[in-house]
Amino acid sequence: MLIKVVSIKNFYKVNPIRKAWLKQIIDTDYRNKDQPPDSYSFPINSESIFFKDLYAKYMIVTREIFGDYNLAVDHNDGVWCYRSELNDYKSVWHDHTNTSTINGVYYLQINEGDTISFNKESKKKNNSSKKIPDSSDIIKYKLEESELLIMPNYLIHKPDPPTGNKVRYCLNMEITTKETVNELFDRLN
Ligand SMILES: [Fe+2]
Repeated sequence: MLIKVVSIKNFYKVNPIRKAWLKQIIDTDYRNKDQPPDSYSFPINSESIFFKDLYAKYMIVTREIFGDYNLAVDHNDGVWCYRSELNDYKSVWHDHTNTSTINGVYYLQINEGDTISFNKESKKKNNSSKKIPDSSDIIKYKLEESELLIMPNYLIHKPDPPTGNKVRYCLNMEITTKETVNELFDRLN
């Protein structure tokens, strides 16, 4: 890939019964969320072991990919959800520079054919100028259920609208390190 995204297919397989239960938990947090109306994700408040386990596994796999790194004092191990459906979605270009170094998204449930779009001209440092890319700079990536994507904080992306009737549940996990994003992602070369 031109952009520094690591994909891990079948990162965390969830059986249908557990998935139905997790979706109920997430929907409860969605209904009770206390976020500004324009925000596109909300925190998972559940103490369920699944979310702790998912995050722990994410930390392990990032250390396998990047080698050792040090957590910053403002590191936060919360899991956030972006939930969307055919007639209820926010497809917004954004990056994660303000809140993380390594950004991860796990796809608990998506439709066959769902995609994420990346701005391949995302700059390593100053993203303030322009988040909405020219159409020639957009890379669309087809997702798989249970996949984890790991990307640098500066990579501008947007969740594309769902392509089917299934609710799309993306679980966002951030890591903030003492190392800079370039120090870490240059290790991928
Ligand atoms: Fe994001």
